[in-house]
Amino acid sequence: MKLGLKIEDAVKLNPKLKKYTYYKNGKMRIDFRDKDALYLYNKTLLKHVFNIDMDFHRDALIPTPVSRYLFIKNLFESFKEKNSRDGKEVLEIGTGSAILAIMAAKYYRCKVYATEVVKEYIEIARENLRRNNLEDKVEIVDSRGRVIEGIEEIESKKFDIILSYPPFYSLHSVPSKRGFGGAYARDVELIGGGKYGEEFSLRILREGIKYLREGGVIGLMMPHKPRERREIIEEEIVNLGLTLERDKIDVGKRTRYIIKGYLL
Ligand SMILES: C[S@@+](CC[C@H](N)C(=O)[O-])C[C@H]1O[C@@H](n2cnc3c(N)ncnc32)[C@H](O)[C@@H]1O
Repeated sequence: MKLGLKIEDAVKLNPKLKKYTYYKNGKMRIDFRDKDALYLYNKTLLKHVFNIDMDFHRDALIPTPVSRYLFIKNLFESFKEKNSRDGKEVLEIGTGSAILAIMAAKYYRCKVYATEVVKEYIEIARENLRRNNLEDKVEIVDSRGRVIEGIEEIESKKFDIILSYPPFYSLHSVPSKRGFGGAYARDVELIGGGKYGEEFSLRILREGIKYLREGGVIGLMMPHKPRERREIIEEEIVNLGLTLERDKIDVGKRTRYIIKGYLL
């Protein structure tokens, strides 16, 4: 699969993108700081490169499909290498539009439980599953502000792969209208804290380890900065007795890290 989509080709596939284009040094470009342009381009790329039909919440993060795909591919391939079998039962924490869950279910034919706390994102995620005929492969679960423990739908289960592109909140964060699309989410106090907002990720590791099968992995995608946050998370993986592995993905100018802890 060829992962990129040239801007000229994206405009041909979706002429609505044309108004966001300009030329620099004879090359067609799009200003991706414009959220509408980014939204349209990523939808076009998802449709034509990944054959995934998705919508995103206007207030939410607009995900970069290629880095999401590389994250999923990395986790499933490294799981298979270690276990000589495919990862079949998967848990995603904080699914947003469900992009990671959809890619996992579509390309690796697994069963995914995907949690989210914002009601409006949950609705969009479920709609995205319907559009892609994946309702029987992915179950969206309302976490009601928890990480894993205490979530009835998943508490009795064990997973091969637990994955997340986690949020980084400060202590006692409460969702704002601007950041969180609506009044619903105000009922929940977000799980935050840690000098670099790493508390949520640490909770995924500490709770997740109890829900992993032998040979299973917890995989977190992390931005490049701050380095200290990645280091704290890696240290926790080692302290918990998991086997640490780290990979790097570069998409355009962005670097993302995949930090993995294996229960071996
Ligand atoms: C960085 S975003 C990642 C979204 C998506 N997985 C992606 O890759 O684009 C983190 C998500 O975690 C969600 N979240 C925050 N607290 C949560 C909780 N306690 N349970 C489930 N999801 C949560 C946020 O609403 C947000 O959608």
